[in-house]
Amino acid sequence: MSRQLWTHARLATLAPGAAAPYGLVDDGALAVEDGTIAWVGPRAELPPAWRRGVDEHDAGGALVTPGLVDCHTHLVWAGDRAREFELRLQGASYEAIAQAGGGIVSTVRATRAASEAELLAQSRRRLRALLAEGATTVEIKSGYGLSEAAEAKCLRVARRLGAEERVTVRTTFLGAHALPPEFAGRPDAYIDEVVRMLPLLHAQGLVDAVDAFCERIGFSLAQTQRVFEAARALRLPVKLHAEQLSDSAGTQLAAGFGALSCDHLEWLGEDGVRAMARAGTVAVLLPGAYYFLRDTRVPPVDLLRRHGVPMAVSTDCNPGTSPCTSLLLMLNMACTLFRLTPEEALAGATRHAARALGLADRGVLAAGRRADFVLWDVAEPAQLAYAFGANPCRTTIVEGTIR
Ligand code: NIG
Ligand code: FE
Repeated sequence: MSRQLWTHARLATLAPGAAAPYGLVDDGALAVEDGTIAWVGPRAELPPAWRRGVDEHDAGGALVTPGLVDCHTHLVWAGDRAREFELRLQGASYEAIAQAGGGIVSTVRATRAASEAELLAQSRRRLRALLAEGATTVEIKSGYGLSEAAEAKCLRVARRLGAEERVTVRTTFLGAHALPPEFAGRPDAYIDEVVRMLPLLHAQGLVDAVDAFCERIGFSLAQTQRVFEAARALRLPVKLHAEQLSDSAGTQLAAGFGALSCDHLEWLGEDGVRAMARAGTVAVLLPGAYYFLRDTRVPPVDLLRRHGVPMAVSTDCNPGTSPCTSLLLMLNMACTLFRLTPEEALAGATRHAARALGLADRGVLAAGRRADFVLWDVAEPAQLAYAFGANPCRTTIVEGTIR
């Protein structure tokens, strides 16, 4: 049995309903037994059983938060879209580029052509950048393969990253991300293919959840519904890229399937917010994509608050709309661009992000949760959202041991 005690820490537990903002505990102690948090609280109240015979670590006065959770990434891809960035700066829109055969499909070409080893090497660099800022759980979507073989390749790379690095990787099958060129003009036939692929990929242990891009330049409500029905048949949870470029009512459809999350949501209306509140669906806000597309319409944060919909914050790390590997920068942008409070932003990258992945065992510092936590060189938790371009992460602990 392994027992560690972390003392001389300022704990931001993010525990729901805590009296202090951020669930702050000054001069706190955190006890870990076999990778799980056994006790959290003021050091003065530490139970006697934890006062001797433990491996004690001095946190040196650091602020301690739960490990960060990046709940929406497309981290596995090959190539880049810098040329597309130049075109957009000359006035071409994201949608126009996609319709002209660029956009997602150009990354699909590069990803199909890349070997599994190349894909792994390129993606590992991005994952390590996220880990350097204290991420301990990262979701990775497929969706740049769009054939059974290429989707399997991307999902295997995601699984392999999870096995090689000290991080939990959750995989999401996003076969319905874009129409591959060989199915041009035949979206329903491609959805048949997505529905055929899903059980085969799932049987290889490659799929934890299912996502789709419900949008004018993505897939229709009826097509999205078929994908969700296939997920339900396998008892896989669903999520949705919803209301990013228009209000397509994808949110209501997803909520009807008990979706873990709906993501983007710039065009979300009150009906969609109500549906999410009823279903307990998390709103995943992606300020990187909003910023990079120079969007002007912000997600309805006040409505989400009023209806009690939990808001998560994530990088959306992808080559087209958010080539970003900094979750801390996203905390800053969630505040400056979407007007979240720094406390909401931090809860959005911990507690609510864990819920967006259906992971009840993490995201807060509390007894019984996984001992994933981060020691930061800051005094106040708001500093994590306040500074940008700085990385105050000192030490990351994964399942009780230093990474
Ligand atoms: O989350 N909206 C769809 N998917 C990604 C963008 C993918 C791409 O452009 O490569 C997103 O924004
Ligand atoms: Fe996305």
